[in-house]
Amino acid sequence: MLILGIETSCDETAAAVVEDGRRVLSSVVASQIEEHRIYGGVVPEIASRRHSEAITAVVNGALSEAEVTLADISAIAVTYAPGLIGALLVGVNFAKGLALSAGLPLVPVHHLRGHIASNYLSHPELQPTFLCLVVSGGHSHIVDVQDYDTLNVVGRTRDDAAGEAFDKAARAMGIPYPGGVELDRIAEGGDPGRYPLPRPRVDGSRYDFSFSGLKTAALNILHNARQRGEEISVPDLCASYRRAVVDYLLDHFSLAVRERGARHIAAAGGVSANRLLRRELENLSRETGAALYLPELKYCGDNAAMIASQGYYEFLKGHTAGMSLNAYPQRDISAGL
Ligand code: KG4
Ligand code: ZN
Repeated sequence: MLILGIETSCDETAAAVVEDGRRVLSSVVASQIEEHRIYGGVVPEIASRRHSEAITAVVNGALSEAEVTLADISAIAVTYAPGLIGALLVGVNFAKGLALSAGLPLVPVHHLRGHIASNYLSHPELQPTFLCLVVSGGHSHIVDVQDYDTLNVVGRTRDDAAGEAFDKAARAMGIPYPGGVELDRIAEGGDPGRYPLPRPRVDGSRYDFSFSGLKTAALNILHNARQRGEEISVPDLCASYRRAVVDYLLDHFSLAVRERGARHIAAAGGVSANRLLRRELENLSRETGAALYLPELKYCGDNAAMIASQGYYEFLKGHTAGMSLNAYPQRDISAGL
């Protein structure tokens, strides 16, 4: 069964055709990053306009690259939440129009469920249940994936997401948006022990995260050095900061893995591309004996193949929507439509 996936929740216009939730026939991603870079972050109005301009060509590209037509497609899956509302609406409205005109079922997909499904593309043998660390630019969750459509949040960030924490610290160091990628690369050559950073505590939950204190501590190191006229070593600060963020994520995730006795663990979202995070997850897997699943790098960031994969399983469970489908800037990963 072929699913056409459409994704427009942030700054990537993407479409893909995936067979039976696992085999990617095509995956087209038109990135707007270059255009947003001069502003230091995504400008929502520009994102919506660029999605509107790109979406027809991107969807046509995905169909032609897969060498199929709409007649071969069984359902259209589209990201409907969470994300930038104006950006999401472009994909949702396009998918509605296409579904109506082609007489195809419409399947709404939660963006973070899509990120988790990127692991189904990279690991054909992976099936729920597993415990997943979801770390993107907008969200940081520990998710108990009980079934393809039954997901429970075990821990979540109370403020910034991990990707946001990387991007904001990088920006303060003069690294252009999205700085997380470059910070990771620069950190490889730095000393992680050079600048001490706190490991924040959150009241009320041992699994929840808070990144704002960590980000502020990094900004203070930079400001204090500037005031004193001292030179900061960017590679050392990148390495120290990356070490602090990854240790913090791993502390909480490994606690959840051990306490729940998870035998299968995974990561997903843009930050799952982080080199140190991937190495530390491999260590955790070795220590606990839990099997580790990581998405291939090409599926860590936003793409539509992951939406088509999750869409396949949502479709099998009968989760389709009518023409009244709306988009939502926020929606819990455990919520149904
Ligand atoms: O999942 P994603 O593509 O978009 C959202 O759904 O938010 O995640 C983008 C985030 C950005 O904050 C980016 O800086 C971060 O993922 N990111 C990284 C790395 N690659 C992407 N952060 C740290 N290390 C990386 N290698
Ligand atoms: Zn994403």
